[in-house]
Amino acid sequence: MKEKKSNFSGSIGFVLAAAGSAVGVGNIWRFPYLCAKDGGGLFLIVYLALVLSFGFVLLTTDIAIGRHTKQNALKAFGTLNSKWKFLGYLTFLVPALIMTYYSVIGGWITKYFCTYLVSDGSILSQDSYFTSFITSKVSPIVFMLLFLALTAWVVYRGVEKGIEKFSRFIMPGLILLILGIAIFSLTLSYTDANGTVRTGLQGLKVYLYPDFSSLTVKRFLGVLLDAMSQLFFSLSVSMGIMVTYGSYVKDDVDLNKSINQIEIFDTGVAFLAGMMIIPAVFVFLGTDGMASGPSLIFISLPKVFASMGAIGRIIAIAFFLMMGFAALTSCVSVMETLVANCMEIFHKSRQKMCAVIGIYSLVTAVLICLGYNILYFEVKLPNGTVAQLLDIMDYISNSFLMPFISLLTSILIGWVVGPKLIIDEVERNGEHFKRAKLYCFMIRYVVPVVMLILFLVSTGII
Ligand code: PFF
Repeated sequence: MKEKKSNFSGSIGFVLAAAGSAVGVGNIWRFPYLCAKDGGGLFLIVYLALVLSFGFVLLTTDIAIGRHTKQNALKAFGTLNSKWKFLGYLTFLVPALIMTYYSVIGGWITKYFCTYLVSDGSILSQDSYFTSFITSKVSPIVFMLLFLALTAWVVYRGVEKGIEKFSRFIMPGLILLILGIAIFSLTLSYTDANGTVRTGLQGLKVYLYPDFSSLTVKRFLGVLLDAMSQLFFSLSVSMGIMVTYGSYVKDDVDLNKSINQIEIFDTGVAFLAGMMIIPAVFVFLGTDGMASGPSLIFISLPKVFASMGAIGRIIAIAFFLMMGFAALTSCVSVMETLVANCMEIFHKSRQKMCAVIGIYSLVTAVLICLGYNILYFEVKLPNGTVAQLLDIMDYISNSFLMPFISLLTSILIGWVVGPKLIIDEVERNGEHFKRAKLYCFMIRYVVPVVMLILFLVSTGII
């Protein structure tokens, strides 16, 4: 049975759904810890420059390809040029890999949210809690199941009634929560055992002040690499997701404006997440707390909430609710991309494909959960980090496939099909594409070279 092509009802629905995909765990968890690691304001400046250049080019390319071809990534590239069909298949691999672990992280967030809801959450602030939770055999699977069921339900309801309706309600809620917690964070102050007083405003300075001391070329390249891979993940580009969402956009929607709004939304939330987390961690845990890396959210933050006294629990509930919202809208976009692609290949209904993808997601997510206990193994990745199953999936999708796909896409658009196709698509509704010259230059020269370097560095070849 061939289903009627789904669409977003208009520009706002599209922007909120695309922003819902972009705003996720990456913004709230990864961005602040990279910021803390890479010298605060320095990382911010580099990231902002990349958003305005690479982010804008890659997002425009994906969305315009989707709307031009009115097809999912799997078929869209073949439609642009039949020799480039393979790029569609390659792109399909990314959400298929991300789906295996995103719902597992969603499950962890759900677990923390539920724990704060039913108790004061003090158990979560113990050092070994997070490790003992993710290495346990049953609990992570149960919470992953809950999160996955919710995701599948939204996707099952379809584009307009599920994804769009849901994003319209969740995204404004998310902004309110994050704004509220960020402002609260700035009002905090704490006197530690040595009598040192630390305030939220000092923490804000740690966040915003660009640390240029000991800036070497090597260190700058490291910051650049971190910012670039964060950008891919955060904007959900080069993984077919924005191509799929672009294919649901009506022709009269102003892509110029929508793309700017999505970027502002995504970067704004990441910025606010930093403003919410870095000052709070600084106040209660000092600069040592900032160095905790990926465990910032699940290990350091519960300690921060515990130090806040009674109000800590309320803030924690609001925080994990907001993070759950962000993770859910992102996970929905990953699953939607898989479902929509499969509907197109197999000519089956959304419901049937939801069931198939649901089972795939379930089985793979269980394997990822078990990767922390009975299926535990470690490998050394080409970039030098030691990884287990979840990290391996993350590495293949983000560090390996995404730069490679961006490299090939920029060659296809810049040199084979020509950037005019994208420019015409952006201007379809009659609006002038103001940054067309920048777009052409970037997609033909800058993106291919930088993506090649990024690919070679992250695969350990150079
Ligand atoms: N952009 C999302 C985030 O920042 O968490 C993550 C994401 C969503 C990555 C969807 C990939 C994806 F397919």
